[in-house]
Amino acid sequence: MIPRRRIDLGLADLTDLWHALGESRDAATAQVRQFETEAASCLGGIPVRATASGRDALDLILDALGIGAGDEIVIPAYTLGELVTRLLGRGLRPVAADIDTGSFCVTPETVARAITPRTRAVIALHVFGAPCDMAGLLDVAGRHGLPVIEDCAHAFGATIGDRPAGSMGAAALFSLEVAKPVATFGGGLLATRDPVLLARAADTLDRRAYASAAVMRKALLKSVEELAVRSPAYAIAARMMFREHQAGGFERLYRGLHDRVRPDHVAFSGFQARRGRRRLHALDTRNHRLNGLWRQLAEALPPRLLPQRRELYGQPAAYNFVARYEGDLVRLRRRAQAAGLDLAIHGEVLDNVAPLLGQTDCPGAASVYAQAVGIPLHLGVGDRQRVRIAEILGEAAGQ
Ligand SMILES: Cc1ncc(COP(=O)(O)O)c(C=O)c1O
Repeated sequence: MIPRRRIDLGLADLTDLWHALGESRDAATAQVRQFETEAASCLGGIPVRATASGRDALDLILDALGIGAGDEIVIPAYTLGELVTRLLGRGLRPVAADIDTGSFCVTPETVARAITPRTRAVIALHVFGAPCDMAGLLDVAGRHGLPVIEDCAHAFGATIGDRPAGSMGAAALFSLEVAKPVATFGGGLLATRDPVLLARAADTLDRRAYASAAVMRKALLKSVEELAVRSPAYAIAARMMFREHQAGGFERLYRGLHDRVRPDHVAFSGFQARRGRRRLHALDTRNHRLNGLWRQLAEALPPRLLPQRRELYGQPAAYNFVARYEGDLVRLRRRAQAAGLDLAIHGEVLDNVAPLLGQTDCPGAASVYAQAVGIPLHLGVGDRQRVRIAEILGEAAGQ
């Protein structure tokens, strides 16, 4: 079975773990500072701080901007559902802006419609690494005096003109979760040129406890999971886990379990920093290789599978190949599974959060959610697998 995701694991990860085991707090902090410096330089020199996760970086940004209970915040209707829970947990009122069904991103028009006198910020997501219309969004938000927070969870290495994604808004969050472009077994980054915002976030971050044991436990669990995904038994497990009548059910369970082993509000560890530095050095090569694979797959898709339009506003980072299927998605997935291809559908790809907020005015997100197919895009897909993916999709979508 060609699996939907794969984690890059190697001998160097074991060496990192070994180094980190006996490391003093000072040595770990030096590694983290070095990682932040190198990440900042990849992002065009914008100052960054490493955080416990992408959502932690978002919390820190909101705290620093003084956005709290009762305030409205415009978010994309097509995003990670857990973010809504997190925002509601802070007493905020998220308002979903609809997306364009080609790029899967919010537009200046949909954001303008979602802004009210109570709005305090706009979150702009570069979905699956594809830059959104930042110039247009900054213009709309600017007219209302609102900060734009760039959600770069998927977009490390994407560029807009000559600027890295994450350098154009008031602040940006990045996720360093296991399948992301820079993956450190969890963790995140906060990037901002605003010295006051940065100082406020740093004040919280510098008082955090180290919990490297929790990070290592998570790394170990993910490594075991990866071995399982690479084993022949995965084909049977995938068919059991991802069945039509439980579409999204297993994914929710998986994400819930994941959240339990996710260290929150802890300091970024020396182990993560070492791995992060290696992933940063490999970032351009990774994005180049996977963007090439993305294009080859897109060219080979059967006509009823429409890939995301992702080069409308800049150069994307490689994270997930998502297409819309104008047919019976469940049947497509069943046929692909039988032929050895693991496809993600609906909420296994990303969430339509408008219904969670009681909104019925986001038809674009509803339609993309209903038609979304995630096709494997990772370093485990070589030429042979790529050709096989195209063949299987052609057959599965053809009848
Ligand atoms: C769109 C989006 N934003 C934010 C996040 C949060 O990142 P993290 O999982 O590191 O908290 C994610 C995670 O996948 C995401 O998909």
